[in-house]
Amino acid sequence: MAERTKPVPHAKPFLKWAGGKTQLLDEFYKHLPEGLGEEGKITRYVEPFIGGGAFFFYLSRKFSFEKCCIGDANEELILTYRVIQKSVKKVIGELGILESAYFTRDEMEREAFYYEIRDAFNNDLPGINFQKYSPVWAERAAEVIFLNRTCYNGLFRVNRDGEFNVPFGGYKNPDILNEKNLQDVAQVLKNTRIISGDFTRCRDYVDDHTFVYFDPPYRPISQTSSFTSYSRGGFDEKDQHRLAALFRELDAKGAKIMLSNSDPRNGNNQDTFFDDLFDGFTIGRVPARRMINCNGARRGRIDELIITNYPTGKI
Ligand SMILES: C[S@@+](CC[C@H](N)C(=O)[O-])C[C@H]1O[C@@H](n2cnc3c(N)ncnc32)[C@H](O)[C@@H]1O
Repeated sequence: MAERTKPVPHAKPFLKWAGGKTQLLDEFYKHLPEGLGEEGKITRYVEPFIGGGAFFFYLSRKFSFEKCCIGDANEELILTYRVIQKSVKKVIGELGILESAYFTRDEMEREAFYYEIRDAFNNDLPGINFQKYSPVWAERAAEVIFLNRTCYNGLFRVNRDGEFNVPFGGYKNPDILNEKNLQDVAQVLKNTRIISGDFTRCRDYVDDHTFVYFDPPYRPISQTSSFTSYSRGGFDEKDQHRLAALFRELDAKGAKIMLSNSDPRNGNNQDTFFDDLFDGFTIGRVPARRMINCNGARRGRIDELIITNYPTGKI
């Protein structure tokens, strides 16, 4: 039998990520399946749209699994998880260098330094082989964390050419290096398979002892509210349909599955897109506050859909 991970009580996301689920964790807890982390019941966890991993780290603080599998289409993000898994000390070393260089500068110089690192990060892109681990990955992972911590609003946004284009954040005291947390994250990642690419690539890791959580890019509520540029390519309605098909496929395999998305009925009560797509499953709605929205006026109460293939409210 595979060795189990132990819960890592303080591990938390090391990146800020658009669509992060930190504020919904207590609601999600009420929707967990029975038998999570129990021998002979649910011993695997799979999350194919990992982003900052708020739910993954939350579960890792509480439960123990034999195996976890995380994935994302964002190559820079996956590179960063892989380097932390393989050589966290190198990432800590590189990030420490960036942190000291940042804090020894005055405010004006900090901004120039930010753009210097951003330019270097973008100029290095053509030489990066995302498929093959290399020593330069540690430096790149440190740059991803540094840029994420010091950029405006903690976004990770790239243009069509894959270049990071978020402006400087100008925050007084950004938390750049949290060494203890990076070590905790590395501990969580020890028993974790990390997949780069489309969410369908996770299907082979799912069996009837698996809990799968899908947190896809939101289907935009209105034409102006889309913020789906986490990576090149986008996520359109065809992708939401492909995901629903995979949901049904894994349901037939006997996995326990949970999926969240923003509720289109907030904007238009007639919009039953997800109700139709997931007809026959359990569809719950919980209040959520959207953190990042390009139209500030629309911040306010918005429900989140939680769709499961099992009855909820049992634990
Ligand atoms: C809503 S975010 C996930 C947020 C995450 N749960 C968190 O707590 O930070 C959606 C993620 O899906 C990724 N993504 C977009 N298209 C994808 C695809 N086709 N397959 C896998 N991941 C994809 C994006 O890069 C992004 O990280």
